[in-house]
Amino acid sequence: MDELKRQAAARALEQVRDGMRLGLGTGSTARHFVELLGARVRAGLDVVGVPTSEATRAHALASGVPLTTLDEIDRLDLTVDGADEINPELDLIKGGGGALLREKIVASASDRMIVIADDSKWVDALGHFPLPVEVIPFGIAATQRAMANAFRESGVSGQMMVRTAKDGHVFVTDGGHWIVDAHLGRIQDARRLAALLSAIPGVVEHGLFVGLASTAILAGAQGIRVVDRP
Ligand code: A5P
Repeated sequence: MDELKRQAAARALEQVRDGMRLGLGTGSTARHFVELLGARVRAGLDVVGVPTSEATRAHALASGVPLTTLDEIDRLDLTVDGADEINPELDLIKGGGGALLREKIVASASDRMIVIADDSKWVDALGHFPLPVEVIPFGIAATQRAMANAFRESGVSGQMMVRTAKDGHVFVTDGGHWIVDAHLGRIQDARRLAALLSAIPGVVEHGLFVGLASTAILAGAQGIRVVDRP
């Protein structure tokens, strides 16, 4: 599996050109991309990156990738990131690693987003993977009630769990928020659910990435498949 992730990352690297401003994703697949990018930078490639998490920032710096911020530059040419699920419209569920907020800010500031993954992430419909929703801790019960209404209105339902870290404490995001993982099953209308969740005051951001990915690079046992957004 790790080898497939690396293959997808290597194929995405072929899209990188001198002078590009890059969004650097988070997770085990994006980590391969940052590592391979670092090797190219050390060989003379001139790029600058904006990391989507503190973990990616540390890894990019250790790999020799020069970094900047979205305060210093206004647009990115390309973001390369992983995903937890990808459907045929190239809508995504992201946030399994807890970095969905910065990932969405960075992807939205990019002219193109390439999603890299092993082909187990390819699904007919989103929702088997629990949908991460980043929330403000204050009033979390009220936020969860509003989320349950949003689920009902968009035709889904399921359990919600506040994410905990390995040590058993509540998982805290880079932005200081919590994550509620919603086990929804099949999400029929991702766009509608996304809009309803975005309207809830206690929701900071959700892991539905609708209309953001331009290309998916999927590595499987049979080779690499490149899928463009229809
Ligand atoms: C991080 O918050 C996520 O959005 C990751 O991009 C996603 O979880 C994929 O991670 P892996 O590449 O580790 O599967």
